Amino acid sequence: MGHEDLLRKVNEYREKSIEGGGRDKIEQQRQKGKLWVRDRINRLLDPDSFVELQWVRTHRSTYFGLDKVKYYGDGVVAGYGTIDRRLVYIYAQDFTVLGGSIGEAHGEKIARLIELAVETGAPVIGLYDSGGARIQEGVASLHGCGRIFYSNVKASGVVPQIAVVMGPCAGAAAYSPALMDFVIMVKSSYMFITGPEVVKAALGVDVTFEQLGGANIHASTSGVAHFITEDEESALSLVRKLLSYLPSNNMEEPPRVPSEDPVDRRMDEIYEVVPTDPVKPFDVKKVISMIVDEGDFLEVHEHYGRSAVVGFGRIGGYTVGIVANQPAVNAGVIDIDASNKIARFVRFCDSFNIPIVTLVDTPGFMPGVDQEHGGIIRHGAKVLYAYAEATVPKITLVMRKAYGGAYIAMGSLSLGSDVNLAWPTAEIAVMGPEGAIRILYRKELAQAPDPEELARRKLAEYREVFANPFRAAELGYIDDVIDPALTRLRIYQVLEALKSKREEFLGTVPKKHGNTPL
Ligand code: HXC
Repeated sequence: MGHEDLLRKVNEYREKSIEGGGRDKIEQQRQKGKLWVRDRINRLLDPDSFVELQWVRTHRSTYFGLDKVKYYGDGVVAGYGTIDRRLVYIYAQDFTVLGGSIGEAHGEKIARLIELAVETGAPVIGLYDSGGARIQEGVASLHGCGRIFYSNVKASGVVPQIAVVMGPCAGAAAYSPALMDFVIMVKSSYMFITGPEVVKAALGVDVTFEQLGGANIHASTSGVAHFITEDEESALSLVRKLLSYLPSNNMEEPPRVPSEDPVDRRMDEIYEVVPTDPVKPFDVKKVISMIVDEGDFLEVHEHYGRSAVVGFGRIGGYTVGIVANQPAVNAGVIDIDASNKIARFVRFCDSFNIPIVTLVDTPGFMPGVDQEHGGIIRHGAKVLYAYAEATVPKITLVMRKAYGGAYIAMGSLSLGSDVNLAWPTAEIAVMGPEGAIRILYRKELAQAPDPEELARRKLAEYREVFANPFRAAELGYIDDVIDPALTRLRIYQVLEALKSKREEFLGTVPKKHGNTPL
């Protein structure tokens, strides 16, 4: 056989591999409004940069008709390429091949790719479209799923991992995204562990895919999804944007992106946006967009735990992770969902050398039977743990209310924050004035001839003492009381000053790892 014949043979294999589950099935997917698996990859990566690996690999099962077919590639297209000229590893499940189900070879392919990404320090991107563990392969398919989970966990904290869910993501397929750093769901996609048929059999209840695990549910209620997008195209451009803020691995700094926005730009509109009366709400996102370069803020978990806001921005070109209470939603109270959202984000930033800027305006942790029974103690503890554990530069700005445990939790000096700023409107106290007066003067108020007059007097006294940043600054818990209009500049200066921070976590006693409250 000459070279030409040999290459023809390669091409025959190649064509079969590219065909996936066949032209009919590709067409069916297209009619559902879904992109072809290879188009997804090509649209995400820089042009012509994709190099595919293991496109010949196939299953070795012989049960339930699998002895009669060979799907080269085994239902997942995997390889590497570049995004903005930076190396990334990528795999994309092909629903046309046995519903994108995860067989032994499929799982091993993904796991090996993630291992290569870890070894080379490059981000992992997974495009999910799968019916879960491949039923025909039995335990071998479960092993394939387990191998993916294992490598996701090993990669965690070493390279960023981003999952995009573009179709069904069922059973075992759902746990891989859940182990990654960010989950982006296209609006029409859905994720579940047990499907509607199992729910019906177990509980006698009828549910649709959307009700069970549609993108809206996961973005707002379960918190599984960090982002939701209208369509596949916008999900792919979101991956590119998200990566632009992140380093390729935990040994690198995030890329610095030059900006025309002057670091000493005053924020005079702040006086209009933030009321001095701490009970009047404002939208903290307006403040964030004034602080960051060009007002460009990528919010994470926008629809989940909405009394807190987290996300990425840049200040003077440096990536920062911003964590803020949102006074426009429940006065910025920290509830269970907000706790989970903040803690997870802080831990991500800490893993990948991203400084954390915390903006505080919160009346405290959310009161109530539901919250206590749901474990606000356990979930709130995650926030304390995450801040205390983080060794990246931590800058906190107390904007207005910072009461009680929530003051401590939100990046206080006590938990190891590096520089703590306050606006003149800051109020740091064990609790808000009204509650404090009622507890301190319960008996006096009950007996007073004019309780309202007494309450007014005591409130004024309390405000004089605590409803300002100066007691905290006198005691050294606040480093600087700043003009709100200079916030961007002041944070930038602190970032510059902390750039060379090297902190060994105080718990230098050798240990395997801590026991984060989960
Ligand atoms: C093998 C599968 C499959 C699977 C789908 N297919 N899921 N093959 N193993 N897990 C095949 C179908 O037989 C069908 O083949 C093709 O994929 C397309 O599936 P359809 O049902 O026609 O598509 P659609 O109507 O769009 O529904 C998609 C779906 C549904 C919602 C994903 O297929 C489904 O419910 N699948 C099972 C989901 C599930 O329960 N997975 C959990 C598996 S257990 P043909 O040849 O007809 O085109 C698991 C381990 C649990 O993952 C671990 C928990 C952590």
